[in-house]
Amino acid sequence: MAPRSMIKGAFLGALALTAPVTAQLADQVSSDSQAGVPLFTSETLQLTDDALATVSENQSALFQFGNASSLSTRSVNGCKVYPGDFWWPSKLVWNLFDAFLGGALIKTVPLAASCYKSWPDEYNAATCSSITDDWTDSNLHAADAASVMWPLFEGRTCLPTTNASASCTVGGYSSYAVNVTNVAQIQLAVNFARNAGLRLVVKNTGHDFNGKSTGAGALGIWTHHLKNIDYIPNYKSSSYSGPAVKMGAGVQAHEIYEKANALGFTVVGGEGKTVGVAGGYVLGGGHSPLSSIYGLAADQVLAMEVVLPNGRFVTVTEQTYPDLFWAIRGGGGGTFGVVTSVISRVHPKVGVTVSTFSFSTGTDVSVETFWAGVRSYMERFDTHADAGTYAYFWILNTGEDSFLFLMNPFFAVNHTVAEYNALVQPWYDDLSNLGISISPSTTYYDNFYGAWMAGFPLETVASSTMMTGSRLFPRANWEDATLFNTTFDTLRSTVENGYALLAFNMKAELVDGYPDNAANPAFRNTLMHAISSTSWDADATPAEIKAKMDYFTNTVLGQWRATCPDAGAYMSESDIQEPNFQQAFYGSNYARLYKLKQLYDPTSLFYAPTGVGSENWVVNSADGLPDQNGRLCRA
Ligand SMILES: Cc1cc2nc3c(=O)[nH]c(=O)nc-3n(C[C@H](O)[C@H](O)[C@H](O)COP(=O)(O)OP(=O)(O)OC[C@H]3O[C@@H](n4cnc5c(N)ncnc54)[C@H](O)[C@@H]3O)c2cc1C
Ligand SMILES: *[C@@H]1O[C@H](CO)[C@@H](O)[C@H](O)[C@H]1NC(C)=O
Ligand SMILES: *[C@@H]1O[C@H](CO)[C@@H](O)[C@H](O)[C@H]1NC(C)=O
Ligand SMILES: *[C@@H]1O[C@H](CO)[C@@H](O)[C@H](O)[C@H]1NC(C)=O
Ligand SMILES: *[C@@H]1O[C@H](CO)[C@@H](O)[C@H](O)[C@H]1NC(C)=O
Ligand SMILES: *[C@@H]1O[C@H](CO)[C@@H](O)[C@H](O)[C@H]1NC(C)=O
Ligand SMILES: *[C@@H]1O[C@H](CO)[C@@H](O)[C@H](O)[C@H]1NC(C)=O
Repeated sequence: MAPRSMIKGAFLGALALTAPVTAQLADQVSSDSQAGVPLFTSETLQLTDDALATVSENQSALFQFGNASSLSTRSVNGCKVYPGDFWWPSKLVWNLFDAFLGGALIKTVPLAASCYKSWPDEYNAATCSSITDDWTDSNLHAADAASVMWPLFEGRTCLPTTNASASCTVGGYSSYAVNVTNVAQIQLAVNFARNAGLRLVVKNTGHDFNGKSTGAGALGIWTHHLKNIDYIPNYKSSSYSGPAVKMGAGVQAHEIYEKANALGFTVVGGEGKTVGVAGGYVLGGGHSPLSSIYGLAADQVLAMEVVLPNGRFVTVTEQTYPDLFWAIRGGGGGTFGVVTSVISRVHPKVGVTVSTFSFSTGTDVSVETFWAGVRSYMERFDTHADAGTYAYFWILNTGEDSFLFLMNPFFAVNHTVAEYNALVQPWYDDLSNLGISISPSTTYYDNFYGAWMAGFPLETVASSTMMTGSRLFPRANWEDATLFNTTFDTLRSTVENGYALLAFNMKAELVDGYPDNAANPAFRNTLMHAISSTSWDADATPAEIKAKMDYFTNTVLGQWRATCPDAGAYMSESDIQEPNFQQAFYGSNYARLYKLKQLYDPTSLFYAPTGVGSENWVVNSADGLPDQNGRLCRA
């Protein structure tokens, strides 16, 4: 047998001999789809067996589709192939890949490289200063092929700095990313990563709280530019007949809301302005200011176009792939394939009353009075959610015996100002009797878009000194007076101990007649999605950070869990260290999801931290923290 290096040499030599490729390797196919709605133009450019047959065998071998008889993929000591490994594709192979992609391959340069002398081509004071200024703006990271909004999970390897001598490495960012504008590019990337044994990540906006859209040494599929939106006035599926919208995977909340408003309908999307509504958001469930009425975003999905782990492009509906139709809607992003578009039901135009106000401890409001005011609010969570409203509120410890409550905002869908005031009057009366005065700013909008624009400012992201965790508190915690007291006392002590409470009073029941899906069952009986966070100093050591994280996970959130051990947490706004994440994020759906993962992704091409099947893998991170800056290996 020839030494490995000889085989590799011959293989690459043969590639070099072939003529350079100029056009993208793809076929133009018909726009017919089993979804009953034509494919987007971007979806009609596909990789087919015919297209593969037009290139040499040596070239096409790298991009073959997967099949049951090609289950073994390259690996290095049980790990995905990593930069520097013998099997890491050579420059020639990356060039060939880029040529087949039509020039869409981007080699990662960290966003803040301009701040560092060690990146001479990028080093530039003006660029660095603008990156530094915009660092907390989510648009900056969404518009980059590899950046993510939680640097902690990348490994904090290249933060904006004024110390040009400090170190900046690619770290946990993907090594290369494909700037996708058509389906063939996704298929090429999926097949290439699988055949070459590379780690694969899908990045849309990079919002994910657990670093699911980044990974050291990975090939990234960047879906941000898949922006098409088609309104379908009369969509028909086996279980639905009515208006719907087809959205490309890169569509963001502000884009679809603006379009929906112009056309006079309402879409179930998130509160965050730049979140990818047709990406990780909807795939992980997706809570919305409309959830108390219409349920989760995943519940609205009627069909999806998907590139499977074997590279094949399929239409997933209740009829064509009932199992994937169930699993992909709520079972988590970056797990079962790459969704290129979703078709979701839409709803009639609706009016919304938005109200913001605050109260705090002070001369007239003692600590006990403050908490009595909060308690009076929490007692009404069932009434408020059952009325179809959604409220985002913060409770902060602002100093010694000093607390602040912010209604940020109360979002009363389908309520006039009078109806809203009637709903909250019992609480307002309690506040008044307690001597707590509030000055609500309350406005009615005749449409969702206006209300959402007014209610939810652009999110601030990219802190490298904090991590989060959350819990979906069930209605049962309100139904038993003793348990309610325990729940209230627990949340109060969380805030008293200095941890912020950012919570949503909402519900997310599956609407009658909507097909079931894999969204976390804990969503179905929740009345509150509560988030908290812990933080550390910028110069904290990894060991100090880990100690903070562990205390938060086990003690702070442990107390939350103890009030509702059988409930769960929302995977997309969660704690990466969540114990027994399978139960917490997927509940009783986990066993079925795991089976489907083995069936559709037998080589574990797709990996996302805390994703289905992720327990079979481990990242040995450079700093020992639970981040993506290290090799991905079999556990
Ligand atoms: C500021 C802020 C506000 C938020 N507001 C809300 C909210 O109101 N409601 C809510 O429910 N959540 C909210 N989230 C959480 C959000 O839903 C998740 O972060 C979600 O993962 C974002 O999806 P994305 O595609 O934008 O992000 P990404 O980080 O790019 O992707 C997230 C995950 O989905 C995968 N993925 C993305 N696109 C695809 C695709 N086309 N096919 C397959 N996999 C894909 C990625 O691989 C990754 O695993 C918010 C998050 C932030 C940071
Ligand atoms: C493919 O590679 C082999 C060596 O691995 C070489 O012998 C052969 O000529 C190559 N074929 C083409 C068409 O380049
Ligand atoms: C299965 O895939 C392998 C590797 O890509 C390929 O060589 C083989 O021809 C494929 N078999 C079938 C039946 O398609
Ligand atoms: C800048 O970074 C270098 C390399 O990490 C370090 O030695 C130096 O002390 C830093 N300078 C300042 C002012 O922090
Ligand atoms: C990605 O592709 C889009 C669409 O072709 C293009 O506008 C954009 O400039 C590209 N981005 C990068 C970083 O190459
Ligand atoms: C809005 O409220 C009215 C009653 O005021 C009710 O008839 C209607 O069904 C509600 N619409 C939605 C979408 O819940
Ligand atoms: C719950 O707490 C309230 C306020 O402290 C108290 O009045 C009530 O008796 C408690 N209820 C139970 C069942 O413990």
